[in-house]
Amino acid sequence: MKILAIETSCDETAVAIAGFKGGTKSPSISILGNALYSQTAAHTEFGGVVPMLAKRKHSQNLIPLLESSLRQAKLWKLHAKEKPLDAKTGKKVREVLEREPELLEAFLALIPRLSRPTVDAIAVTHGPGLEPALWVGVNLAKALALVWNKPVIPVNHMEGHVFSSLLVEQKPKAYHLAKVNYPAVALLISGGHTELVHIKKPGTYSLLGATRDDAAGEAFDKVARMLGLPYPGGPEISKLAEEARSKKLPREIELPRPMITSKDLEFSFAGLKTAVLYKLKGMKLDEAGKRGVAREFEDAVTEVLVAKTRAALLKTRSRSLIVGGGVAANRHIRAGLKSMTEDMGKIACFLPSPALTTDNAVMIAVAGFLKQRGAKKKSASFKADGNLRLSGKA
Ligand code: KG4
Ligand code: ZN
Repeated sequence: MKILAIETSCDETAVAIAGFKGGTKSPSISILGNALYSQTAAHTEFGGVVPMLAKRKHSQNLIPLLESSLRQAKLWKLHAKEKPLDAKTGKKVREVLEREPELLEAFLALIPRLSRPTVDAIAVTHGPGLEPALWVGVNLAKALALVWNKPVIPVNHMEGHVFSSLLVEQKPKAYHLAKVNYPAVALLISGGHTELVHIKKPGTYSLLGATRDDAAGEAFDKVARMLGLPYPGGPEISKLAEEARSKKLPREIELPRPMITSKDLEFSFAGLKTAVLYKLKGMKLDEAGKRGVAREFEDAVTEVLVAKTRAALLKTRSRSLIVGGGVAANRHIRAGLKSMTEDMGKIACFLPSPALTTDNAVMIAVAGFLKQRGAKKKSASFKADGNLRLSGKA
């Protein structure tokens, strides 16, 4: 079966088409089309993602990305003559895309000319994320489902990140799902989330602990801003920290490791950010100074993540660790988690491949395939939900 997937939860606009063979237990997955537009440049001048700007950019870019994805998948075929939508469908499409006038216009200019592609379902991220941004993807999915008469599968973005870490590349664009021994712990670290989730068996999630304030990625972004580095700050801090390590710069500042000894599985990164702010006041911020702060900050975040994840693995007697989300791109954090699981013994550590670490629609297609039973009829209603949870409290 083929699934077309749409992702618009934050500042990446993405459309992918994936083909699946075999059952949901061990499918062979091929990426037939994968089109992604990162809006970061547009948000950089504001120092972070601006929700209404993200919404607008999604509206402008979705149809071109849909075209690119369909072309890559060789599913792009135009009718010799335009086939106008029937009055009822046209009216419904206008209602669904009422709040996205630019997207509606592009949709109506293309879809009546396009022959219906042979995809079996449409998967779309419906949360968590920035609500105005999420709605654009959700509404496009609904409109396509109406015209093409396909089911829609609403997908939780964080579950997408979990599955992206389990994709094992066989050859370019061909993957299978790693075999996971359960129970497992997922550490989900992104710009909006930092949480430890217990996965007792596939598809069941319960929250073990989360951040009380800032997410790990948010802390990276805010500290980067204090250091005068552009958004997104994670990769920038990481680069400076690596330079400090390779130059063996002496450790000149010391930052706290928030909540590292607390008995719970909660995190707090807001205090760490404030601690950086205070340290910067008395410092000369030259290149060496920035490198030193970056390394100490990255060390502090890594140590806390590693300690809490270790505690979560012990508490749940888990046999696997699955790490997902944009911050999982950080090499120091990856290495710290990997060596912690190796030291514990008998715990497999699953990390996402660099290409699938940050937001993308491939992971949404995979999560959609594995969730087919949750598919909604084309007419069924579901909402974008910025605060959608993966789980209840354990
Ligand atoms: O998962 P993601 O692409 O979007 C959200 O769902 O939030 O994560 C984006 C976050 C940003 O905060 C970014 O700074 C962070 O991931 N990030 C990193 C690195 N690459 C991206 N943080 C630390 N080190 C990195 N190398
Ligand atoms: Zn994400």
